[in-house]
Amino acid sequence: MNALTVPFGVSSRARSLPLLDGKGFTVARSQGARLFDTEGRSFVDYGMAMGATLIGHAHPAVVEACKTALENGPMPGFPNDIEELAGKALARIGGARVTRATFATTGTEAVHLACRIARATTGRRLIAKAVGGYDGWFDPVRFGLVESAEAERTNIRPVKEDTTLFRVNEIDDIDQLFDEMGADLAAILVEPMLGNTGCLVPERAFFEHLTRRAQENGTQIIADEVMVGLRRGVRLVSEELGLMPDLVTLGKAIGSGVPVAAVLGTPKAFEVVENGTVPCFGTYHGNPLVASAVLATMKLLEDESHYTRLFDWGAALRRAAVEAFAAEGITAITTGFDSVFSLWFTDRMPRSYDEAKTKVRPEATKRVSDTLRRHGVVSLPSPWGRYFISLAHGDSEMEQTVLAFRAAARDLAASGFKG
Ligand SMILES: Cc1ncc(COP(=O)(O)O)c(C=O)c1O
Repeated sequence: MNALTVPFGVSSRARSLPLLDGKGFTVARSQGARLFDTEGRSFVDYGMAMGATLIGHAHPAVVEACKTALENGPMPGFPNDIEELAGKALARIGGARVTRATFATTGTEAVHLACRIARATTGRRLIAKAVGGYDGWFDPVRFGLVESAEAERTNIRPVKEDTTLFRVNEIDDIDQLFDEMGADLAAILVEPMLGNTGCLVPERAFFEHLTRRAQENGTQIIADEVMVGLRRGVRLVSEELGLMPDLVTLGKAIGSGVPVAAVLGTPKAFEVVENGTVPCFGTYHGNPLVASAVLATMKLLEDESHYTRLFDWGAALRRAAVEAFAAEGITAITTGFDSVFSLWFTDRMPRSYDEAKTKVRPEATKRVSDTLRRHGVVSLPSPWGRYFISLAHGDSEMEQTVLAFRAAARDLAASGFKG
């Protein structure tokens, strides 16, 4: 047995790709929309650091800003002159309503802090998160994940470590949650798009009802935008979809690959931070290195034409992928947004986690991912996985990916898969 020092050779199992044709996959360099492995092969990337590199790997503006921060000292350990600038720039996402910001290092920590803020504000303990939602790897919220036992439908609502679950797009379930547990309910924690359940976008009527019940009950809403933040523009995805959050967690794309996350909040939600009731700590939080990465990213995204191009490119890829399978007699659809989407072998977007579970096709997804990889295109092999698009994906990547999808569709049809 090969005893690696780092178990599996990677500190987050979500990042490892299976062997393919006897070969592993280890990245030596990432640039723009491409990965270069240790054997010198180049791949078009749709993992894009699990969504963290929206503007492309190693974007020169971010590299330059970080170089300067490193040279000036990345960790002064006292207030620095970039953090407030970065906070202001980031808070543009929150618009006129969600105007406060504080930094963390990971999305997991941002969720933890947002829950702490909601508990301090409401004086209640219980957090309700969505079945199938992923909100980080800390124990209380690592609960009700896709394919977990707790996510199964039963008559008893599961509770673990002051956390319970609700089911997206089920208004009756929300009513029952508030009727039975409202007095204890500090916060609703929900992704505006269930990225980890194959990019399911909840319905507006559901989000509006959820907002109404939460507001009537004095329960805070935490929109977990760690994955979708900045993927629809410099604004809140939650608000666009009918959910009115008090607190918003961000991560990934805000740092363009540099480890940084944040909590945004309304002035009211941040009162407990500003009056010192909720302590915010963290050696690395808001240091000049990460603040510089945020500032450079936000500056770049001031130019809205980037988004027009990104959405056109993503829409074209979604169409091309679906057409490639249709040409082989296989029905496929995509769910999500033009900057991040999932591929399903079905004719209609699942409405719920239960429905999604009946529609995932693990063997087909894995087979497609393998063929794409043989044609120089890396995707996430999980049936619940996503394709992340970046500003760096261009004509050559489109051409290569479309050819790879056609090959994948031919291979899938040849295997006898009917869709
Ligand atoms: C919606 C969501 N929330 C929270 C997290 C946790 O972020 P991190 O991995 O930076 O701790 C993730 C990570 O994938 C996520 O997708």
